[in-house]
Amino acid sequence: MMIMKQHLIFTLSFLLLFFLHCSRILAQAPAQAPAPSGPTNVTKILEKSGQFTIFIRLLKATQVTNQLLGQLNNTNNGMTIFAPTDNAFSSLKSGTLNSLNDEQQVELVQFHIVPMYLSTSQFQTVSNPLRTQAGDSGDGKFPLNITSSGNTVNITTGLTNTSVSGTIYTDGQLAVYQVDQVLQPLQIFAPRPPAPAPAPAKSKKKKAAAVADSPDDNTPTENSKAVSLITMQNVVLFGISAIVITLSL
Ligand SMILES: *[C@@H]1O[C@H](CO)[C@@H](O)[C@H](O)[C@H]1NC(C)=O
Ligand SMILES: *[C@@H]1O[C@H](CO)[C@@H](O)[C@H](O)[C@H]1NC(C)=O
Ligand SMILES: *[C@@H]1O[C@H](CO)[C@@H](O)[C@H](O)[C@H]1NC(C)=O
Ligand SMILES: *[C@@H]1O[C@H](CO)[C@@H](O)[C@H](O)[C@H]1NC(C)=O
Ligand SMILES: *[C@@H]1O[C@H](CO)[C@@H](O)[C@H](O)[C@H]1NC(C)=O
Repeated sequence: MMIMKQHLIFTLSFLLLFFLHCSRILAQAPAQAPAPSGPTNVTKILEKSGQFTIFIRLLKATQVTNQLLGQLNNTNNGMTIFAPTDNAFSSLKSGTLNSLNDEQQVELVQFHIVPMYLSTSQFQTVSNPLRTQAGDSGDGKFPLNITSSGNTVNITTGLTNTSVSGTIYTDGQLAVYQVDQVLQPLQIFAPRPPAPAPAPAKSKKKKAAAVADSPDDNTPTENSKAVSLITMQNVVLFGISAIVITLSL
C-alpha cells in the first residue's frame, strides 16, 4: 500500500512538472505574433524631425493622414509632401488657421501634397502648374508652380514665394520636403471683394465618429484567451497539488 502511494505521488509530480512545462510554451505563443508591415507612416516621419507639430495636428484634424495611408498603399505614382515648419505657421497672420472653415483647412493641407513622387532632380522637368491633392490646378484656383536650377527649388502659388529648404524623407515612392513658409493657395487666401457669407462649417463630430468606428486590433480577444488559459492552468494545478498533498499525508 505504502509503495503504491509513493508511486502515485511520483507519477502525479511528474505530470505536474510536465504540465507546467507545456503551459509555459503555450503562454508564450501570443507574444510572438509578428507586427504587420503597412504603408509608410507619414506622421511618424514628421514626428521624428520635431519641428512639424502644427502640420501634424492639421493632418490629423482634417483626416488627411487617413487619405495618405490609403493612397500610399494604393499608388504607383507615389507622393510628394511639402511640410511647413512650426515657424512657417507661426509667421502667418495670427488667427489665420482659425478663420478657415473645415473644408478650407482640408484644402490647405491637401495643397501641400502632390500625388506624384518627385525627386530633387525631377523638379527641373515638372510641367507647371502642378496638380495637388487640393484639386485641379487648371481652373486657376490651386496653382502650384515649381522652378528649379542647381540646388535651388523655388515654389510659387501666386501668393507665396518660397523654396525647398531641406529633404526630410525620400524612398523612391514618398518624398517629404521642408518648406519655411505655408503655401497659400489663391482659392483660399486671394484678396477678394466682400463675398456672401461662407457656407456653414460641416460638423466635426461626424468625422470624429468615423475615426472611433475604425476597427481596432484584436488585442482584447487575445487578452481574454490568455486569461482563460491561465485560469484553466491554475484550476488543474490546484487539483493535482491537492491530490499530491493528500496522498503524502
Ligand atoms: C503612425 O505613427 C504615429 C506616431 O508614431 C502613431 O501614433 C500612429 O498610430 C501610426 N499610424 C499607423 C497607421 O500606424
Ligand atoms: C493595402 O492594400 C492591400 C491590397 O490592395 C489591402 O489588402 C490592404 O488592406 C491595404 N492596407 C491598408 C493599411 O490600407
Ligand atoms: C529662385 O528664387 C530666387 C529668389 O527669389 C531667385 O533669385 C532665383 O533666380 C530663383 N531660381 C529659380 C530657378 O527660379
Ligand atoms: C505657373 O506656371 C504657368 C505655366 O508656366 C503660368 O501660366 C502661371 O502664370 C504660373 N503661375 C504662377 C503663380 O506663377
Ligand atoms: C513672388 O515672385 C514673383 C516673381 O518673382 C513676384 O512678382 C511677386 O511679387 C512675389 N510675391 C511675393 C508675395 O513675394
